[in-house]
Amino acid sequence: MVSRRATIPELPFLAPCSVRVAPSILAADFGRLADEIAKIAPFTDWLHLDVMDGHFVPNISLGVPVVASIRRHCSLWLDCHLMISEPGRYLEAFAEAGADGCSVHLEVGATPEHCEKMRSLGLKVGLAVNPETPIERAFCFLESVDYLVVMSVHPGFGGQAFIEEALGKIERARQEIDRLGLEVTVQVDGGIDEETARGCAIAGARCFVAGTSVFGAPDPGRAAGQIAAVAARAAAGGGR
Ligand code: DX5
Ligand code: ZN
Repeated sequence: MVSRRATIPELPFLAPCSVRVAPSILAADFGRLADEIAKIAPFTDWLHLDVMDGHFVPNISLGVPVVASIRRHCSLWLDCHLMISEPGRYLEAFAEAGADGCSVHLEVGATPEHCEKMRSLGLKVGLAVNPETPIERAFCFLESVDYLVVMSVHPGFGGQAFIEEALGKIERARQEIDRLGLEVTVQVDGGIDEETARGCAIAGARCFVAGTSVFGAPDPGRAAGQIAAVAARAAAGGGR
C-alpha cells in the first residue's frame, strides 16, 4: 500500500468546464525552488514536474527525490510528466514520493500496463503524445486515462516555440472524448503563453502547462493567473 498524504485534502479532479494552469518548474531557478513555487502557489493548484532520463529525451532534469522534497513543502497537485523510456520501473517510487498524477508517453509502449499500474497506485492517469505521433493512436486508450497530454513542443527542453499542429490534435481529441462521453481532460504542454493558451482553449484544452511564460515573467503568479483568465474566457466562449 502506497502511503498518501494525510494532511492535504484531495482536490477534485478537473470539472469539465474549468481550466487550470500547471506551471512547469523546468523554467524555475532550481537553486531557489521553494521560493519559486511560493510565487505561484496562491494562483493555481497544480504544479508540473518534468522528469527526463537522458534516453527518451536528450536531456536530464529531476527525479524521485526532488518530487519527494517538493511534496514535503507544498500542497499543490503534483503532475509528474515522465519523459522516460521505462516509466513502469518508477511509477511506484513516484507515487511513494507523493505524485498525484503521472503522465507516461504513448511512444514508450506498454500503455495498458502503465495505465493499470498508475490506477492501482492511486495516481491519476495521464498519457502524453509527442508532436510527430498522430493523436489518433491514443484514442483506444481514452477510457483508461484521466488526462491526455498533447505535446506542443518536442519534449526535452523548455522555451521552445509552440507547434501550431497541436491545435488540430487538441480539437480531434476533444471531439473523440466527447463522442465517447468521457471526462478526460486535454492538457497541452509546451510554448504556452496567453496567446497560445487562448487558441488551445478554443480547440478544447483545459489544462495548460506553462514554464517559460510563468517563471520567466517578472511576476510568475500574475503570469499564471493571466493565462488562466485568458484560457477561461476562451473556453467559455468556445464551448466546452
Ligand atoms: C518540455 C516539457 C514542458 C516544458 C514547457 O519537455 O514537457 O513541460 O517545461 O516549457 P515551456 O512552457 O517553456 O515551453
Ligand atoms: Zn512537461
